[in-house]
Amino acid sequence: MFSNETQENPLFELARQRRSVRRYTGEKVSDDVVREILKIALLAPSSWGRHPVEFVVIRDRDTIEAVARCKRMGAGPLPTADVAIVVMADTADCELWIEDAAVASTYILLAAEQFGVGACWIHMRNRQSQ
Ligand SMILES: Cc1cc2nc3c(=O)[nH]c(=O)nc-3n(C[C@H](O)[C@H](O)[C@H](O)COP(=O)(O)O)c2cc1C
Repeated sequence: MFSNETQENPLFELARQRRSVRRYTGEKVSDDVVREILKIALLAPSSWGRHPVEFVVIRDRDTIEAVARCKRMGAGPLPTADVAIVVMADTADCELWIEDAAVASTYILLAAEQFGVGACWIHMRNRQSQ
């Protein structure tokens, strides 16, 4: 189980290959692929099964750039991405919403890797520029 077998495990390979991608090819990411990625993200576990996480898909260039400008550093790749998936959570009555959002975000990164889509986590919470 923990020897060579892991190298034939698709999930192991996916996790091993995934890397943050910050330079994009300009190739369009189809709505179908975005939908498949979100279907996987929706399967992420959440505290008490409350599923407080919501996703907002942004394709509009001005809006993506506006989101990128929300923080001073570290959002560099965002304006060049074809699509942004904003991961949000309903914080009311859900103490572990940060963890829930982080798990869902991780599912998104792995799903993107599986569909051959370069992706990078851009952290926003508590990083907004004044
Ligand atoms: C919680 C979290 C926040 C991150 N925030 C950013 C960010 O704001 N900007 C960025 O370019 N990368 C960000 N990353 C990506 C990390 O820099 C990256 O995962 C790390 O350097 C390891 O590289 P790898 O993803 O290629 O394995 C973040 C990753 C995590 C998990």
